[in-house]
Formats: sequence, C-alpha cells, structure tokens
Amino acid sequence: MKVDDIKKILVVGAGTMGHGIAEVFAIAGYHVYLSDVSEDILNKSLNNIRWSLSKLKEKDRIKETVDEVLSRIRPVVGLNESVSDADFVVEASPEIIDLKRQIFSTLDKLLSPNTILATNTSTLPVTSIAEATSKPERVVAMHFFNPPVLMELVEVMKGEKTNDEVALTTYELAKKIGKKPILIKKDVPGYVVNNILGAVSGTACLLVEKGLADIKEVDAVTMYKLGFPMGVFILADYSGLDIGYNALRSREKLGLKTNRPPCSMVEEKVKRGELGVKSGKGYYQYPAPGKYQKP
Ligand code: 3HC
Repeated sequence: MKVDDIKKILVVGAGTMGHGIAEVFAIAGYHVYLSDVSEDILNKSLNNIRWSLSKLKEKDRIKETVDEVLSRIRPVVGLNESVSDADFVVEASPEIIDLKRQIFSTLDKLLSPNTILATNTSTLPVTSIAEATSKPERVVAMHFFNPPVLMELVEVMKGEKTNDEVALTTYELAKKIGKKPILIKKDVPGYVVNNILGAVSGTACLLVEKGLADIKEVDAVTMYKLGFPMGVFILADYSGLDIGYNALRSREKLGLKTNRPPCSMVEEKVKRGELGVKSGKGYYQYPAPGKYQKP
C-alpha cells in the first residue's frame, strides 16, 4: 500500500486519543470511520471533536467550517462489515494487551490483507499486538501525542516482523497529515518519548508521595526550569491517569521491565475514578470534564 492509495481511515477507540486522531485525519481531508463500543461514547467523542474544531476555527487554524470537517467522520458502533473498505487503521483502545489483541484479531479477519493496521499504544510492544493477526508484517505502531491536533510529533515504530514498506507508508502518511514523524526501527515499548517521560513523572510522583515537595512545586519546576510546556502533574491529568496505570499493569503481565519508579498515588487516584481532565478531577480540578482549561 502506497500513501496515495490511502483514502479511508478507521480509528478504533473514540477516547482521549482516538477522537483527536480521527479529527486530525478529517482535517487533512480523509474520510474517517470512528468506532467504539457504544453510541453514548461516540456522541461524547463527536461533541469533544466539535469543541476542539471550534477552538481551531476561532484561531483561524482550519480553513473549512466545523461542520465540513465533521461531515467526514462517520461514527460506527462496534467493528463490522461497514468499515471493511478502510485502507488504514489506527487502533487507540485502552492500554490493555488482551483487548488490543482481540481487536487486532477482529481487524485481521474484517479488512483486506493490504490494509495497514497501526496501533497507537503508549507503551506496549507492537510485536505482541501483531501476533494476534495472521499477517504481522502489516502491523506497525503510529504513536500520536495528546492532543493530536496540536502536537506535531508522531513516533512510527516497527515490530519484529513489520514490513519496511508498511513502516515507510505510515511515516509518509504522518507527514501528509502535517505531522513531524520519527521512525524507530526496533520495537522499544514506550518508544523514545514515553520512556523519558515515564522516568520523569515517576520520579515526580515519588517526590510528592514522600512529602519532599508538593504537586504545584513540582509542576512549577518542570515548567520553569526543565522547560516542559505543562507541569508533569497537569500533563498526567491531561493525558488521563488510567492510561499510564493500565500500561504499567499490561507491561507487568508481559514481564517487561520499566524504568518508572513505583508510586502508589496513581493507583489510589485511578481506583477513586480521579482520572484527570476527562473525569473533572485528577491532581487538579476541571470544571468542564473533557474540555481542558488551565487549572
Ligand atoms: N483542541 C483545540 N484546542 C485545544 C485542545 C484541543 N484538543 N486542547 C487544548 N486546547 C486549547 C485550550 O482550550 C486553550 O484554549 P484558549 O486559549 O482559548 O483558552 C489552549 O488550547 C491552551 O493554550 P495554552 O496557552 O495552555 O497552551 P498552548 O496553546 O501554548 O499549547 C499545548 C497547548 C500544545 C497542549 C501545550 O500546553 C503542550 O504542548 N502541552 C504538553 C502536551 C504534551 O506533552 N503531550 C504529550 C503527552 S504524552 C502522550 O500523549 C503520550 C501518550 O502515549 C499518553
């Protein structure tokens, strides 16, 4: 599959990352199927996309109207025949390895053997996701950053069996939608960014847990000294505390090592449903859940 042959995109999972990824492709002119398990989730997701597009329109960052872009996104409940003509898939489901494998096994049967199957996993090995398919050479990682519409970097990463052409087409597709991709030639769970970020945020969490600094102090340090655009705790709220938590559990299950120091504060918050911006509370409070405003 060459990049110019790609016309229809399927995004599986309409959560924080999935809805943003669908939005990016629709802005770039692609027809997008956005799939999730319920109409309710899809409605919330379309609502978030509308909010984001309106923000972009206000700032003159998109040429078309909000409705023109939205008209290219078709919500689909579940994975069925109606999406079988997709040329490229980005899977953005929760960081649960068994769930991802199940989705890839379904996609493998549903879509043409030429369709490229990409995962947006944060930290799981693309090789073990690809094993759930009959054609692991067409499986690749395409890792966006939150929010996909504003963040330019995309990490494209090969699994052990990923075909070179599949990786190259994915890389070119990222460029075509206006991103700045990097190509990682070996399967490194966590890619480049999340390995660095995980070590930083794990250390930050420990400093707070041990009472050596408070959340606002650590955020101030990461922003004003380390030069991060957001403090690490605001960023965790923004990305969703459950993402890192689920990824860690899945990595443990796969027997993978992590350079992230253990920190129980995250687990406690996830168990209380304090997931960050999406739930209205994480390390900080957000009056309009799902819609980021500086705390
Ligand atoms: N769409 C449109 N607008 C959005 C938006 C979205 N999805 N999310 C936030 N905004 C808007 C806000 O509502 C606000 O609008 P306003 O100006 O009208 O109030 C504005 O963007 C925020 O503006 P800020 O002044 O706070 O910040 P900037 O515009 O300078 O930048 C940012 C925003 C690009 C999000 C910047 O804060 C940033 O780079 N943050 C770090 C993000 C990051 O590191 N992401 C990666 C996380 S790790 C990850 O995703 C990996 C994965 O595996 C989990």
